Order: sequence, then structure tokens, then C-alpha cells
Amino acid sequence: MDKQHYSSMLKPYKQQHLVQFWDELSDEDRSALRAQIDSIDFQRLSELASKKSQQIDIVELAKRAVPPKAIRLNCGEEQTKAARASGEKAIRDGRVGMVLVAGGQGTRLGFDLPKGMFPIGPLSQRTLFQMHVDSLRGAMKKFQCEIPLFIMTSPATDQDTRDYFAQNNNLGLPAHLIYIFQQGVMPAVDAMSGKVLLESKSQIAVSPDGHGGIVEAMKKNGILTACQAKGIEHLFYAQVDNPLVTACDPLLIGHHLISESQMTTQVVKKRFAKEKVGNVVAIDGKTQIIEYSDLPDEAAERRNSDGSLALWAGNIAVHVISCAFLQNCSEDSNSLPFHIAHKTVPYVNESGDRVKPTQPNAFKFEKFVFDLLPKASVALVVEGDAAEVFAPVKNSDGAATDTPAFCRTSLSQRFKRWLAAANVETDESTIVEIHPLWAFDVEDVKSKFSSPLKINVDTYFA
Ligand code: UTP
Repeated sequence: MDKQHYSSMLKPYKQQHLVQFWDELSDEDRSALRAQIDSIDFQRLSELASKKSQQIDIVELAKRAVPPKAIRLNCGEEQTKAARASGEKAIRDGRVGMVLVAGGQGTRLGFDLPKGMFPIGPLSQRTLFQMHVDSLRGAMKKFQCEIPLFIMTSPATDQDTRDYFAQNNNLGLPAHLIYIFQQGVMPAVDAMSGKVLLESKSQIAVSPDGHGGIVEAMKKNGILTACQAKGIEHLFYAQVDNPLVTACDPLLIGHHLISESQMTTQVVKKRFAKEKVGNVVAIDGKTQIIEYSDLPDEAAERRNSDGSLALWAGNIAVHVISCAFLQNCSEDSNSLPFHIAHKTVPYVNESGDRVKPTQPNAFKFEKFVFDLLPKASVALVVEGDAAEVFAPVKNSDGAATDTPAFCRTSLSQRFKRWLAAANVETDESTIVEIHPLWAFDVEDVKSKFSSPLKINVDTYFA
């Protein structure tokens, strides 16, 4: 009876194959499959799959792209001081929370556990999760306040993440400040036929719905309501794979507040035209991001009269987002577009055999959080110094870029610059790590030393 019901329900979308193995399944498997089918909006999915060829004309769009209005690094002492003070006040007043996206699949890194559990501290081997939580604890200590942490996981990372926090005393954060919630998933469809792929006879092949899934997931899991109840007005958003992020960076938050921005994004100056970061641009007055793979060479290479890149701003996925704006966006589940990626997805074929394709065979659908930018009535772009704020862990060691080794070196070099600002000299080969409870920022480091010093052994200030 169930089989018939689902068969006729799926027929208009040509997806009846999903119940093809129904008679072979156990009761438990049937109810799991039922739940998966019930959670899919097949109408929307078929619209998405059929629109796949109607790509936006990026070449046309890029012609109109100009640099975004931005607060640059050289904006001046006065503006910087005012922003920092404003950000610090909002944090002290308990109006700021932190969101860490720790979902996805971490395929490129090839690490068996969630990326957040990857050891990265140059001397301490603290994990990515621990680095972020320590930075948050550093902010709480410095500003004498509590800051809730909202962590988004995916089906691939959820249970391990929960276990990790539970087994490690929440990494030192009081339990009432941690919220772990899971992002949604989207089915993968066969690129030729549009048919939803089966991962096994009883399971639909799904993948996380992208970091942009956070808007729906926050609503669904009551996170926005929790923020409201706690008086949280702004969320500092970071990705778990970048441990150079300063939790709730007061300067960035301050610029966001002073500009009355709905969404503020930190960018870095691109080092070269085709650098693999999203390009933050303005098109017809709206701030938006064109991915590096989509940006035509002509636009990427466009130069100012002094030879610098016209489209200079690279996305590093550090944002401040106002909760009221997020709430508005969450009212409409279609508010963010899906991006389509052509990927290799193993599946079970009509004969019930498992197929492992060697070439991309499927479309996956993902939302990106930065697509919120053009929706904001006021969006702000603030430049950060790449060496201070950005060294993501994407690939395993040996790759050309974004490796753990590069990230550890970047962390150590940043701490050495902080020491140098306090007249503490270090040898080139010396490795340094600073725990945020010892010093949250360069100013704290300066306050620790009263006379010049030279350090030539690896040192962990904790
Ligand atoms: P990436 O786009 O680098 O994806 O995510 P990933 O899953 O970590 O790694 P690959 O591409 O499979 O190798 C950037 C950040 O966004 C989060 C990740 O946890 C990472 O911090 N993310 C990504 C999500 O939370 N959900 C997603 O669906 C995708």
C-alpha cells in the first residue's frame, strides 16, 4: 500500500525508481526511506535540475562589476579607534553571538573525523575547534561577558562533533553557551536523466546543502529564537577551517555597527588576478560575490592606473550578520539560490548493483551564505590584512595551497609579529604559539613585556 502510494506520488516527477526495491527492504529501512522521500520537495528539485543549463550570463554581469565600497586598511586611526570601541561595547553588552560553520564533508583534506577535530596548534596541537573556542574564551575574559557559540554541523560531522564536545568538557565553554545544530541536505541527481540517485536500495544519496543552508537550519532549530531571547542582535560568522579568525573581532563588529550594516564581510587584497578566492564586487549598486572560477579573465585582469587590480577584494568568509536581517531572510526558504556542482557520486543502479563512477555523473545543489550580501539594504566590506586573518585548512600537506603546514606557519608568524610589537625578538626558525587566554590580541601581548627580550627557543605562551 505504501509502495503504491509513493509510486504514484513520485510518478509526475519521474522518480518512481526510488521505491523500486521496496519489497526487499526491512520495516526499519522502509521507514527510513519513507522519511527521506517525505522530506524532499520534488517539485522544487525538478525545477532546479531543469534550470541547470540556464546559467546567469556571468560575462555580461562581470562587465558591470566594479570594486565594492570598502573600509580599507589605511582608513585612519580615528575611524579604527571608534569602530573598535563600538564593537567592544556591543560585545560587553551581550549583543553579539558567534556562529561557526563546521558542516560540509571536508573531502579535500582527507581527514576521517570532522575538520574541526584536526590538530593545528603549531606547538600545542590544539584542534581547529579548540582554537576557535579558546579565542572565544579569550574574548569573554577580555570583555568580561558571555558569548554564545552556535556550531553548524552536517550529517557527516554531527555525531562526532557532539561526542567531541561532550567528552572534552565542552572545550572549556560553559554548556549553556553552546548550541550544536545540523544543516539540511539535498538529494544528488543523475546529470543526464535528472533522476534522484540511490546510495543504497533504501537510502537516497544526499549531500549537505552548503554553508548557505545556515539560514534555514537556524530557523528550523530555533537558533534565531534563542538569539532573540538572549538579546543577541548580531552574529559573528566564521568557518571552522580558518584558525586565524579572532572570535568576535571587535573592529569588524564596530565597523558593522557604525555603518548600520545588515551584513558586513571581511575581505583581503588579492595577491594576483586569478587567486582562488571569491571576488567581492559591486554590480548595479549591490555587493555580491563572483566566484574565481566564474570571473572572466578580462574582469580579473582589469587594472587601475597605478597597476593594482581593479577587482581587488577577496572573500575570506568572515562576516557579521544582523539577526533581524537573518530572520527576514529565513521567512522565505527560497531566499538563497542553489548553486549546481557537477560531482562524482556512487549509486545503486536499476539492477541493484553499486556503481562507482570515475567521472562526474551527478548534480549536487548547494547554497552559499555570501548570497545574502545582495539582499542586504546596507552591506559593508572591510579590508583585513591577509597575514593576520586568513590561512584556511582546505587541502592535505603536499598540496600547493591552503595546507595545514602553511596554516601553522602563518599562526606562528602572526604571533611573532605580536611579540615584535612588544619588543620581543625571535629567531627566524623559532616557532611561537600564544593561547588567547594569555593574550587575546597584540595589545594584550604588549602589556606583558616591560623591556626588550630575545627568544630563540620554541615557546607556547599559555
Ligand atoms: P568548504 O567549501 O571548504 O567545504 O567549506 P568543506 O566541506 O569543508 O571541504 P571540501 O570542499 O569537501 O573539501 C567551507 C566552510 O564551510 C563549512 C565547512 O565546514 C567549512 O568550515 N560548510 C561547507 C558547511 O558548514 N556546510 C556545507 O555544506 C559546506
